Amino acid sequence: MSRPYSKRLNDIQPFRVVEILARAKQLEAQGRDIVHLAAGEPDFATAAPIIKAAQQSLGNGDTHYSQASGIPQLREALSRYYRDDYGLDIDPRRIMITPGASGALLLIAALLMNPGDGMLMTDPGYPCNRHFLRLVEGEGQLVPVGVEDRFQLHAEKAEKYWQNNTIGAMVASPANPTGEILSKDELSELWSLCQHKNGHLVVDEIYHGLNYGTEAPSILSITDEAFVINSFSKYFGMTGWRLGWLVAPEQAIPELEKLAQNIFISMNTFSQFGALAAFSEESRAILDSRRDEFAARRDFLCEELQNMGFEIPHRPAGALYLYAGIKKFSHDSQRFCLDLLENHGVAITPGMDFGTYLAEEHVRFAYTTSMSRLEEAVSRLHKIFV
Ligand SMILES: Cc1ncc(COP(=O)(O)O)c(C=O)c1O
Repeated sequence: MSRPYSKRLNDIQPFRVVEILARAKQLEAQGRDIVHLAAGEPDFATAAPIIKAAQQSLGNGDTHYSQASGIPQLREALSRYYRDDYGLDIDPRRIMITPGASGALLLIAALLMNPGDGMLMTDPGYPCNRHFLRLVEGEGQLVPVGVEDRFQLHAEKAEKYWQNNTIGAMVASPANPTGEILSKDELSELWSLCQHKNGHLVVDEIYHGLNYGTEAPSILSITDEAFVINSFSKYFGMTGWRLGWLVAPEQAIPELEKLAQNIFISMNTFSQFGALAAFSEESRAILDSRRDEFAARRDFLCEELQNMGFEIPHRPAGALYLYAGIKKFSHDSQRFCLDLLENHGVAITPGMDFGTYLAEEHVRFAYTTSMSRLEEAVSRLHKIFV
């Protein structure tokens, strides 16, 4: 008899959408045309100037480890980005480059949690967050949020759900799967609560830059004491490069560096040199025009879904997603998604991937495909729901 694996594995769930994606691949292999609205990543290839810079970096022989906290040039470029885009003065020494926002989440979980500690987070929300906490023997404390909360964690509710073992709150703005943004006042109130409770505040700003006509304030405009997670994956369109960053209070940096040295040694060196080119005028113009394209897709899909009877009480201001209520059609979102795929060739994500609260009544549409493919999806949905 072999020894069992760790108990923590029982608490770490796979993505349900994997089943949908595997079936989509099978159907495609049989010649079916599938419209993909499930992937949480921009469909555009990484902008050409970034690719060129990474190729040059490889040509220059940048194939070795780099510093555990990232190459200084990239930390300085991010500091300039905060100055130019946000009007904020962030010392590059407070910025650490990480292997994606995922790497930042792991470092922050390891930094903050003792076994048995809890951290508040929204349900629905990004599912990996609670799994990162579980890895370090902590616990994600899920706060059910719905339409009445605009699917975000507000101070009042956070206070209600704060427990004896709660050590802070973790929010994302704009959020996955709902695209909802926390205003500066809402962030301030949350920060005041965390201070009052002597807790930490972690804000995942990975969808910053993908906000459409509505400002997405950074917690860094309110305090230097919160933790910020961000990434080159979404607005910068570099998911496969595995590059993100975090901004931490100054006193946390030596501890985070120690963790990063042990866990990662360093990030991908040539990815970092490539990312330097993401801040050029040429790259920013490409990225901003892609953002405008996402906005147009959101507008189109949101209106069409609302007209068909999907519940989207108001148009979300950011990210790449529409989180839609399907009560009118089904009370089993997994079944709903599988049927949609099997019978109509449209792949979307069931609510269960983001938590349990009203999850059977919700699905996520990702507008990470071209407008013409979105039109195709809408025309297929029309045949069923109109
Ligand atoms: C809210 C949120 N945080 C973090 C991540 C992780 O992103 P990455 O590791 O690619 O930067 C994702 C990915 O979809 C996300 O949606």
